[in-house]
Amino acid sequence: MAPGTLEEDVGKRRTFGIISHPDAGKTTLTEKLLLYGGAIQLAGTVKARKSARHATSDWMEVEKQRGISVTSSVMQFDYAGHTINLLDTPGHQDFSEDTYRVLTAVDAAVMVLDAAKGVEAQTIKLLEVCRLRATPIITFINKMDREVREPLSLVEEIESVLSIDCAPVTWPIGMGKSFRGVFDLRRDRLVRFTPGEEHRSEDGEIIEGLDNPRLTTLFPLEISALRNDVELLRAASAPFDLAAFLAGRQSPVFFGSGINNFGVQEILTALIEWAPPPQPRDGGTRMVAPTEKPFTGFVFKIQANMDPRHRDRIAFFRVCSGRYTPGMKVAHQRLGREMKLGNVLTFMANERVQSEDAVAGDIIGIHNHGQLQIGDTLTEGEALGFKGIPYFAPEMFRVARPRDPFKAKQLQKGLQELGEEGAIQVFESVVGNQLLLGAVGQLQFEVVAARLASEYKVDALYDDAGIATARWLTYPDEKVRRDFERDRAASLANDVDGNPVYLAPNRFNLQVAMERWPKVGFHATREHGQRMAHA
Ligand code: G4P
Repeated sequence: MAPGTLEEDVGKRRTFGIISHPDAGKTTLTEKLLLYGGAIQLAGTVKARKSARHATSDWMEVEKQRGISVTSSVMQFDYAGHTINLLDTPGHQDFSEDTYRVLTAVDAAVMVLDAAKGVEAQTIKLLEVCRLRATPIITFINKMDREVREPLSLVEEIESVLSIDCAPVTWPIGMGKSFRGVFDLRRDRLVRFTPGEEHRSEDGEIIEGLDNPRLTTLFPLEISALRNDVELLRAASAPFDLAAFLAGRQSPVFFGSGINNFGVQEILTALIEWAPPPQPRDGGTRMVAPTEKPFTGFVFKIQANMDPRHRDRIAFFRVCSGRYTPGMKVAHQRLGREMKLGNVLTFMANERVQSEDAVAGDIIGIHNHGQLQIGDTLTEGEALGFKGIPYFAPEMFRVARPRDPFKAKQLQKGLQELGEEGAIQVFESVVGNQLLLGAVGQLQFEVVAARLASEYKVDALYDDAGIATARWLTYPDEKVRRDFERDRAASLANDVDGNPVYLAPNRFNLQVAMERWPKVGFHATREHGQRMAHA
């Protein structure tokens, strides 16, 4: 789309991610969204990328094996006069801290649930991350063409497990073999589903009015249940409330079947009509409005080793204000120096191209050789530091040691740098000075081992660390700190920035420690660059 004024362009942006548990249908929905957006022509493109695990360039081996592809990390496409940025939230074995961080760069999320399974573990975790920024959530209950759970029980489960109000926007009639379609509660009409046919739901037959006798003729077995449900919903559930949605308190709920293209259009429409354009962001010293002229933004993800010979990496950068123009000079806040933005990419749905123009909400990929870390802020001069890109308490821990004991220094250096970059979290135990690695997904350990070998020439061995979880610590005063450190020395470590951390062998131990030391602050997240020693 040709650029308009900054206000116009920002207003057209919608930047979102999909949160789901593996196998709920994220890949399928992504593909259908791209198909509707005209960004890909053929169903199966994204799917093929997911399953074929093919490699077309020099990316490091582990990434090749996993089929992680930078082109699919961010997918930009135009739809109905808007520019949509869909940020991939890696799941399955690719689940890592990146998955969490991606959610710090979106303005809305689509939550996909498998209607047979309801709310699953990974969805709970990802929703917690969305909640840190009160991100608006659109819910898509998928796979209605299968034998699934009762819709009312699904909605109740979302409300109770995820503590978010639900506003059903569509409601299913039947399920599995007798799935007949969805009733649009706001427009008072039924969109008919024809099983086995891949068609767009807007092409499906529309039957106006719940009382329409045609419904009784067509669906004699299912219609009374639908009429009862709708009556109940209209009496008992809150109608969709845009302000509550934007505040992250209420989620509009849609039912459908991604694989049958059914309900996909409604999700796109909801994104455009209801999801917010880029919002002001906390720049540390002040809120930064997306329509401010000076260019600002932050790095939320680093993709390393696109080409191992050059140690080059791509920093995924969310623009927060202003306009990117090729070759512009920016101020790198953490390093306190100027940086020229030369080789910058825009990620289209199926290719990456040189970026010509980007505004708030867009994601650009900045080539660099290690100057950029997760959480870094770039501006046109003003001293800002965007907040809300935290480290998350790891859930898996390993002790790292070099296979060759003489390479301990290289290992330490490598881990320090990879820890600073955000590839993994590195802790040093207070007692015994052991190097501990913390991650939220197994892949992170594999990536780090591969990078230590290729970039630092050290073969790292991992041992189980016997640790279940970590919390960053803050103390009200020196006395509490000294007493706590004396009591809990064996469980203490420092992170890569020197912040004190409590490492618990199990959840019970953590709970006991928190109860015994009510004045000590135990934190599950930490902001990048934040020093935490004192509350
Ligand atoms: P994910 O990215 O969340 O892991 O899920 P993905 O889209 O890969 O979907 C997981 C499985 O669920 C796939 O089946 C997919 O075809 C199926 N699926 C997705 N949406 C629907 C739907 O609306 N209805 C039904 N019945 N199935 C759906 P698979 O057997 O694992 O893969 P494939 O053999 O179909 O490729």
